[in-house]
Amino acid sequence: GIIILDFGSQYNQLIARRVRELGVYSEVLPFNTPLAEILDKKPVGIILSGGPSSVNAEDAHLVEKSLFEAGIPVLGICYGMQLTTHVLGGKVKKGVKGEYGKANLHIDKTSKLFEGVSTDSIVWMSHFDEVEVVPQGFEINAKTDVISAISNEAQNIYCVQFHPEVSHSEEGSKMLENFVFGICNAEKNWKLTNYIEKTVAEIREKVGNEKVILGLSGGVDSSVAAVLIHKAIGDQLQCIFVDTGLLRKDEGKKVMENYGEHFHMNIKMIDASERFLSKLAGVSDPEQKRKIIGNEFVHVFDEESHKIEGAKFLAQGTIYPDVIESQSVKGPSAVIKSHHNVGGLPEEMKMELLEPLRELFKDEVRRVGEELGIPHHLVYRHPFPGPGLGIRILGEVDEEKVKILQEADDIFIEELYKNDLYEKVSQAFVVLLPVKSVGVMGDERTYEYTAVVRSANTIDFMTATWSKLPYEFLELVSNRIINEVRGINRVTYDISSKPPATIEWE
Ligand code: XMP
Repeated sequence: GIIILDFGSQYNQLIARRVRELGVYSEVLPFNTPLAEILDKKPVGIILSGGPSSVNAEDAHLVEKSLFEAGIPVLGICYGMQLTTHVLGGKVKKGVKGEYGKANLHIDKTSKLFEGVSTDSIVWMSHFDEVEVVPQGFEINAKTDVISAISNEAQNIYCVQFHPEVSHSEEGSKMLENFVFGICNAEKNWKLTNYIEKTVAEIREKVGNEKVILGLSGGVDSSVAAVLIHKAIGDQLQCIFVDTGLLRKDEGKKVMENYGEHFHMNIKMIDASERFLSKLAGVSDPEQKRKIIGNEFVHVFDEESHKIEGAKFLAQGTIYPDVIESQSVKGPSAVIKSHHNVGGLPEEMKMELLEPLRELFKDEVRRVGEELGIPHHLVYRHPFPGPGLGIRILGEVDEEKVKILQEADDIFIEELYKNDLYEKVSQAFVVLLPVKSVGVMGDERTYEYTAVVRSANTIDFMTATWSKLPYEFLELVSNRIINEVRGINRVTYDISSKPPATIEWE
């Protein structure tokens, strides 16, 4: 396959996905992976990703020159181009103003990378430094305001300053295709049907006759993992579903129907709502609420899994972006809120891990799910945070507020589906504020809570914009919530982007 070396760009996962979309296996490794380890994987090509730093900085992320002499084609993107230039003896200088956003690319002298690409096209730039002097043996292929593509065709080294993986680069996918097939001669070896067969065989081999426990949340990852493992080992899989009392309306019932009845999986449902609610009583600090919910989840899950005798494996819905994040040079840096994933479990549990989705991106997990027969609407559900409604009820949480929020949220989601908007937004939900205001219903004065309708569009959940939902639609949702949910007499729409706001309210 193709190896992508990670220098910290927010786009490196996107490069890997683009390569896989072409049907070729790709893997993201930290930039400082030893060359021997890279070569062991027998890559047909190496892509050097972008990154936030400067090659001229003292502690710059560099690679050995030998990487370029291993006889494997290299594509340097953005920082990867500057790095190649720097390591091979060219010169990179600090730009005067940098280039961000769209730029016009003009190809002066074509190369294999640009086969079938128009002489002039739009590309997506995001850089400050620029190449001043190209290394010996290289030629300049294209420019924007700066030198934007260079290559050494004899040695199969190609570099671009822009981001071909971003969809704003009009002919970017053609360029990646040229690199993967025209230059690396990669084989089309990445098919999800093969992945399912291969993984089912591996699970059988690894698990043998042992029992496996899985924390099923009803979310996409744990559900697809469960169905895949169930396909491999049937009743040896025991799922545990913890109802924290902070889930969406009827979630427990739906999980039992969708996975228990439909797929005939063993699911033990634990109603722990009272435990969670009593621990949360009187607590209003968001971080404290998160900690309480996370800890309680671990306790409940731990207790229940101990009741299952002789379980040797713990299955989790870990997916590839989780793996990349955990090995990344950036580290789990930008932890702004402490995340507790349902299924994120205590270290002291002495079970072997089974993570059948470790190699897959989210869109691939969804396709695997559909291939396994999980209905489309379940596989394309929005994400739901581990602490659930506990962080969507601002301030103190109690049973009454949970009920109110569940009803309001259910109306919003139902209307999104009915109006064909659900899959046009990335995440949508209702938040309940502890703020009461005055209203009038019939002839009566009301004094009730405020609901916030929130909907965000995002690719990676790191940055997001608010969804431009039609006014008529918002009006419909607002009317229904106020008329149907006792306890709410005012609805607002959240029009904040992330950053500086976050998607959730706590
Ligand atoms: P924020 O609010 O930080 O959310 O913009 C980004 C994404 O992360 C989800 N989120 C969580 N998911 N456990 C989770 O599993 C958590 O504690 C948690 N907190 C936030 C949030 O729903 C959004 O998709």
